[in-house]
Amino acid sequence: MNNKEFTKRYYLDRSKGDSIKWQRGRKLSCLPMWVADMDFKCDERLITALNDFITKADYGYANLPEDYYDVFINWHQKRNNVRYKREWIRFSKGAVDAMYQIIHAFTQKGDSIMINTPLYPPFKASILQTGRKVVESKMINNDGFFTFNYKDMEKKFSSGKVKMLMLCSPHNPLGRVYKKGELEELFELCHRYHVLICADEVHSDIIMPDQSFVPALSIKEYQNDIIAIIAASKTFSLAVFSHCHIVIPDEKKRERLIKYQQDYHTGSVNVFNALPTYYGYMYGEEWLDALCNVINENYHYIYNKLSKYLEISVLEGSYLLFINLGKYTGGMDAGEFLIEKCHILCNPGKDFDKKYAGWVRMNLATSLSNVKKAVKSILEIIEEKK
Ligand SMILES: Cc1ncc(COP(=O)(O)O)c(C=O)c1O
Repeated sequence: MNNKEFTKRYYLDRSKGDSIKWQRGRKLSCLPMWVADMDFKCDERLITALNDFITKADYGYANLPEDYYDVFINWHQKRNNVRYKREWIRFSKGAVDAMYQIIHAFTQKGDSIMINTPLYPPFKASILQTGRKVVESKMINNDGFFTFNYKDMEKKFSSGKVKMLMLCSPHNPLGRVYKKGELEELFELCHRYHVLICADEVHSDIIMPDQSFVPALSIKEYQNDIIAIIAASKTFSLAVFSHCHIVIPDEKKRERLIKYQQDYHTGSVNVFNALPTYYGYMYGEEWLDALCNVINENYHYIYNKLSKYLEISVLEGSYLLFINLGKYTGGMDAGEFLIEKCHILCNPGKDFDKKYAGWVRMNLATSLSNVKKAVKSILEIIEEKK
């Protein structure tokens, strides 16, 4: 399926419904390119399977489909060459819920937790909300290609206070898909300083065609140091269902999470909410490959038109682009600037790190024609300021 056919078949007009993204866009008379969900509906077979479940009307207590775990395991084996075991898998109501559970179960109040900024805001919020301390290590920006500052991380780890690293891989908002060598160096450092790794991999299915995703748990030497957060919510745009997996190979750590989940009666799976993930993994592969091509085309369109004027992150994965408008905003917050001058609603960069007030995060999971509209209005502003 080419990109035009995909868009024709799956573009979803969300402009009049209750979508958070589009409602706020409407209110501000802006094209909404913020919240991380997509303007595409998923594969028709997923929708049909879900409709069948609803039509049967058996809404009593149910188990997961018998092959749920096999379908999950096979998907990750096939796409990312990693083999998870059934007993490693626990559940949560979304990825942010998983972050909170992991922080509570594995750290104490007052402990320090490291994050690599700029970063999706709930990482920091979950650390602060639970009474832990945030230790930031800023990513190094090499013309929009961001890398870890290992020296800085080691210096901070050597205090002995950092108990956990919350890794975002692929990285939101920087679009990085880390190479095996980068992860190995990072994990070796964490291992040396006894730092547990919580790897949020919710964007791991949206990978640009020239890249490949390296799951944290595929690096076997460090498997027992890692807890992975894995979901299909970004993959097939299923955020409304709030279904997520917490994957823990180390038995002792798993027992600790299970104890936490039992104590707080959390972690039991909502079968209805799990079904779209299951159907997505069963039927969505071809759809997903086509989607990644559409996002890649959107990215290259923007890159070709704007990179002469603006610093743009290198998009290896996810559909989130980080763009530096600082040269043109006259000191104004870039998010506000885009709303006011271009009628585009993006996430302001300062939400990811206060030093990035000249940047915005733009969501590319939409039609090329929306991307073209956005580019046109940004180019008009650039022309004006020349
Ligand atoms: C890296 C990352 N983690 C977690 C979430 C939120 O996931 P959930 O809605 O499942 O809590 C997002 C949403 O954008 C995200 O980008």
